[in-house]
Amino acid sequence: MSYITSTQERHIDILDIPALETKVAANMEKGAFGYLSGAAEDELVLKANPLAFNHKLIAPRVLQDIENPDLTTEFLGLKLSAPIIAVPIAAHGLVHEHAELDTAQGVADAGTIFSLSTYGNATVDDVAKIAPESPKFFQLYMSKDDNFNRWILDKAVKGGYKAIILTADSTLGGYREADIVNNFTFPNVMRNLEEWSKLSSEGETGSGEGIAAIYAKAKQALSLKDIAFIKDYTKLPVFVKGVQSSKDVEPLIEAGVDGLWVSNHGGRQLDGGPASFDVLADIAKVVNKRVPIVFDSGVRRGQHIFKALASGADVVGIGRPMLWGLNLGGSQGVTDVFDHFKKELMITMQLAGTHNVAEIKATELLDAK
Ligand code: FNR
Ligand code: LAC
Repeated sequence: MSYITSTQERHIDILDIPALETKVAANMEKGAFGYLSGAAEDELVLKANPLAFNHKLIAPRVLQDIENPDLTTEFLGLKLSAPIIAVPIAAHGLVHEHAELDTAQGVADAGTIFSLSTYGNATVDDVAKIAPESPKFFQLYMSKDDNFNRWILDKAVKGGYKAIILTADSTLGGYREADIVNNFTFPNVMRNLEEWSKLSSEGETGSGEGIAAIYAKAKQALSLKDIAFIKDYTKLPVFVKGVQSSKDVEPLIEAGVDGLWVSNHGGRQLDGGPASFDVLADIAKVVNKRVPIVFDSGVRRGQHIFKALASGADVVGIGRPMLWGLNLGGSQGVTDVFDHFKKELMITMQLAGTHNVAEIKATELLDAK
């Protein structure tokens, strides 16, 4: 039986972001939902990610003469409607028939950056054609085969992608028990892998495989040298995604990284590690504004975005909630999710007494007692 998924294209009502997940659960096949919502081992990090924002508090300032706070920001010279961007997520076709084509449109309509995963259900070329004026990043899962790496990076450059994200926290799959219990395998092809397998008569398409098998075929021995490889080959800025230790900052900057992406993959990789927000401030302190910082993992509220910016992030990545919006409303649903985050962030800024993003970044948070 072919895989059935959402065909919705409509506005969605949002009370709050976390409430969307239950609606999506009712919409999706068990295995696919388990892949989307699940995480590694005891899911300790998944649970810790959103709770970690309670470790820091915002002491609001009053009588700051504020009306209509300005959410706009600039990142890598790109003007964004708000300091929030789309994270790379594989296989959007699990949640909607139009897959990344709809997500990219919805993110473009929200006025920010879309990030395409190597393991998407749409090709680098096809996504590049969606709202071509809207900025996009390409996220690379490096293959052991540099012919594949060069082939797909060529496409990203030709497609006008503004930066390459090198994901470094997934050299093997986290031990995801939901996928094991559900015996989850992807029901549809990962279009870039399919294109490559036709061209090179090598490799798989992803269809019928689980993520652990796909990860195992990718490159495990990632190293600092891969940053130069990508930079030299594409002449594009390179962000390393999955940074969780301040000890990685100096080596990464010395290796020429153009930005850090502080993330624990939404708890899907190493369980038993820290919540992503809990390591952000220390990492940002060592970075000391030498390169830009993207933050993700567990962002569910506008105040989470505020706290991440106040802790050193330049922009904040929206993950699972973006796909919840896609499932419930297609590209409009994606835009509605970003708009809801903006609404909550605007209220937080107004009440905190901050006029703009620069003032958020200058805000000193309190340690929760
Ligand atoms: C991801 N993430 C991810 N990251 C990446 O670099 N390439 C990828 O292909 C994927 N795929 C993927 C699939 C699914 C279903 C999820 C939930 C996540 C990780 C993603 O970029 C981001 O780090 C997390 O989603 C952040 O956690 P939250 O906020 O979504 O919980
Ligand atoms: C995941 C991979 C695709 O988290 O990043 O499933």
